[in-house]
Amino acid sequence: MKAMNGVFSDTDRSINIEGVQVHVAHPDELPVKWVGQLDLLRQLQAAWLIIDPADVPMTPRLLGKPGVGKTTLAYAGAVSLQREAYIMQATLDTRPEDLIISPVIEGEGKLRYVASPLVTAMVRGGVAILDEGNRMSEKSWASLAPLLDTRRYVESIVAGIKIHAHEDFRMVATMNDD
Ligand SMILES: Nc1ncnc2c1ncn2[C@@H]1O[C@H](COP(=O)(O)OP(=O)(O)OP(=O)(O)O)[C@@H](O)[C@H]1O
Ligand SMILES: [Mg+2]
Repeated sequence: MKAMNGVFSDTDRSINIEGVQVHVAHPDELPVKWVGQLDLLRQLQAAWLIIDPADVPMTPRLLGKPGVGKTTLAYAGAVSLQREAYIMQATLDTRPEDLIISPVIEGEGKLRYVASPLVTAMVRGGVAILDEGNRMSEKSWASLAPLLDTRRYVESIVAGIKIHAHEDFRMVATMNDD
């Protein structure tokens, strides 16, 4: 698969971005199927639709009480577009760098760079589901600003690289209003 950032290797699920080898996550597979409420699924698909290549797809928020089906709807939206779905669980202490790339010690003083589910969706042209995004700090949300506007990139401080989103990349956030 060819992405804007480099060539993706299927053998070790890694991609070379600006000379740095970055290992990516596996897509999530949920044993769920969206039932009924087709209008909600259509609204989600419409938010992601772009007509002109210069358009920026929207990143909708699925807001609702616990258990109403927010995560299921986000996942069903990805499946309906035949895209890989990557669920990124947000918490109170999700830091900006957790959203992007984490360094993992590999022995002999070597570092392995591991992409978050969000960055994996960006490079694979998949759908990132930022689950329970209401828990995440304003600082972490702010770090996603360049991704969610026309720039469509994020910068990894630890790896020292800029990562561009694939044109097929889409994102959705779920939020509890409990
Ligand atoms: N329209 C639907 N079609 C199929 N399953 C559904 C639907 N709505 C809810 N469910 C089911 O209800 C359960 C709860 O859904 P889900 O986990 O998506 O809710 P949630 O809003 O994300 O909850 P939470 O806020 O706790 O994360 C799941 O088992 C899900 O499969
Ligand atoms: Mg949920």
